[in-house]
Amino acid sequence: MFDAQKFIDQQIAKVKEDVEGTAIIAASGGVDSTVCAGIVSKAIGDRLLAVYVDTGFMRKGENDSVDKMLSRLGVNHIIVDASDEYYEALKGVTDPERKRKIIGEKFIRVFEREAKKFGAEYLVQGTIAPDWIESGGGLRDTIKSHHNVGGLPADMNLKLVEPLRDLYKDEVRKVARMLKIEVAEKQPFPGPALAIRVLGEPTRESVEIVREACAITEEEIEKAAAAGKMKLPWQYFAVLLPIRSVGVQGDIRAYGYTIAVRAVDSVDAMSAVYCKIPHEILETISTRISNKMKDKVNRVVYDITDKPPGTIEWE
Ligand code: XMP
Repeated sequence: MFDAQKFIDQQIAKVKEDVEGTAIIAASGGVDSTVCAGIVSKAIGDRLLAVYVDTGFMRKGENDSVDKMLSRLGVNHIIVDASDEYYEALKGVTDPERKRKIIGEKFIRVFEREAKKFGAEYLVQGTIAPDWIESGGGLRDTIKSHHNVGGLPADMNLKLVEPLRDLYKDEVRKVARMLKIEVAEKQPFPGPALAIRVLGEPTRESVEIVREACAITEEEIEKAAAAGKMKLPWQYFAVLLPIRSVGVQGDIRAYGYTIAVRAVDSVDAMSAVYCKIPHEILETISTRISNKMKDKVNRVVYDITDKPPGTIEWE
């Protein structure tokens, strides 16, 4: 049986011992990095700097809420707007693994810059077990290179600290609850963020479409769950497909994009089953998305694929 309090105590002691100087952490607002920042901040106080990078791919309202959450937790932090750099680096890039590599590398470069300013010697990361197992750790084949691992450049000159490396997601949530971190029940969100929920090149315009679609999907599903119409899925979001199809707007032929809505249940992200969401909720999501983005989206579909054979994200 996993003992969250024992794990926290052990990690605080270990970080106190291992980290002699200053450290930085990439705070994404997700459960993993927030738990990590909480533990390390308890161990070394303001010798930790949490850097929140605004990549331009974050969800609606996320920059603000991360800022507020880190303030409440008392974690020493800064926010860096690097969105121009990210969009520039991803110009013309459509391959999912290249996206991850570029995003991962840029991420580390932005950190290195901040780390130099801060004089940090350590990089703290919220890597968890599925991240490195699915990235070809151990004896398994590479499925996807999760950006915490695959994008790490060999010449990185910061020492790595990964307190959550041996944990699965459900264990991280237990630790979060123990630390009274209010993201404890938040759904998982990938490091490369909305850039991998736009199939094809991520541009400011395409990311804005998927950002709006994700916000509507989250809002309607959370509302339905709160009203007892369904159980809150483990993960739920929207994906923008790069193809256009024919539709009709008023009495005019339209040619618009497709949004795929996805909602799955899982324990540790290694396998997942799609959620049987009531049709009237799917209908509300579909109507709201196509009304909100009339000139851009004319079709909404629901993904009924399990993992395997699919993965949770589409890229
Ligand atoms: P897949 O799509 O591989 O996702 O079934 C399993 C879980 O991992 C998340 N995910 C990522 N997380 N960097 C991350 O930090 C990534 O590149 C990445 N790709 C997928 C996904 O959202 C799901 O929770």
